[in-house]
Amino acid sequence: MPKASPILNPTQESAQKLGIELDAIPAHVAVIMDGNGRWAKKKGFARLLGHREGYKALRGILLSASELGIKFLTVYAFSAENWRRPEDEVKGLMSLIERAARDELRLMHQNNVRVNVSGRIHELPQGLQRALNDGMETTKINTGITFTLAVNYGGRAEIVDAVKKLVAEGAKPEQISEQTITDHLYNPHHPDPDLMIRTAGEMRWSNFLIWQGAYCELYVTEKTWPEFSTPDLLDAVKTFQQRTRKFGAVVE
Ligand code: FPP
Repeated sequence: MPKASPILNPTQESAQKLGIELDAIPAHVAVIMDGNGRWAKKKGFARLLGHREGYKALRGILLSASELGIKFLTVYAFSAENWRRPEDEVKGLMSLIERAARDELRLMHQNNVRVNVSGRIHELPQGLQRALNDGMETTKINTGITFTLAVNYGGRAEIVDAVKKLVAEGAKPEQISEQTITDHLYNPHHPDPDLMIRTAGEMRWSNFLIWQGAYCELYVTEKTWPEFSTPDLLDAVKTFQQRTRKFGAVVE
């Protein structure tokens, strides 16, 4: 008897039409959501409007990533270096992330999304910490995509924090290995990212998941983050599937 074809959701259908293999979707996708400011400038808007539009883009991408079968989506919402921005912008971003965490909680929970965070969360404003903790608590039983917000995140800071934890545990030099450092990162059980997407054209890594992303495939698009939508995500996944991953070895 012929095998019944699986019922596909709209994102999977579009993916299949593009020739994307649904059984080879990257498990972990990381995103550097760059270009909110440039998008706003082009339109003659204030920078914060660019971030608001970026938030809308993120909502769409999270749902598409979930429909596509991506298991982990990690996004760079605020870097440890972003505190250097004008005070108004920092405050605006903090309240935007807090509001988003609260307003989207129901939608995320309904979609079986597991909310998670990465970064020096204890240094964030109390209200934002509460919103993020509520999100994690409410969705911890969910089994769908794990959506990680990197807030006050720096890759070097994460490695420093991991080493500090090891030292505090009294680790001996011979106990320090790639595995023990990995085990002390903010999210030790997450797989390494397979694909890192960066919008707005810069060819930079910007201190994002520098330990975990050692072998990830990079995809850079000229589009700014507010312009990035489901077809762009599908293009990134298609490009990823056309790459040969070698992990330092020779692949014939
Ligand atoms: C980089 O664009 C973007 C950020 C520093 C913030 C990312 C935030 C969002 C996408 C919106 C809110 C997020 C959540 C989780 C609700 P930029 O300002 O550096 O752009 P530019 O380089 O063009 O100035």
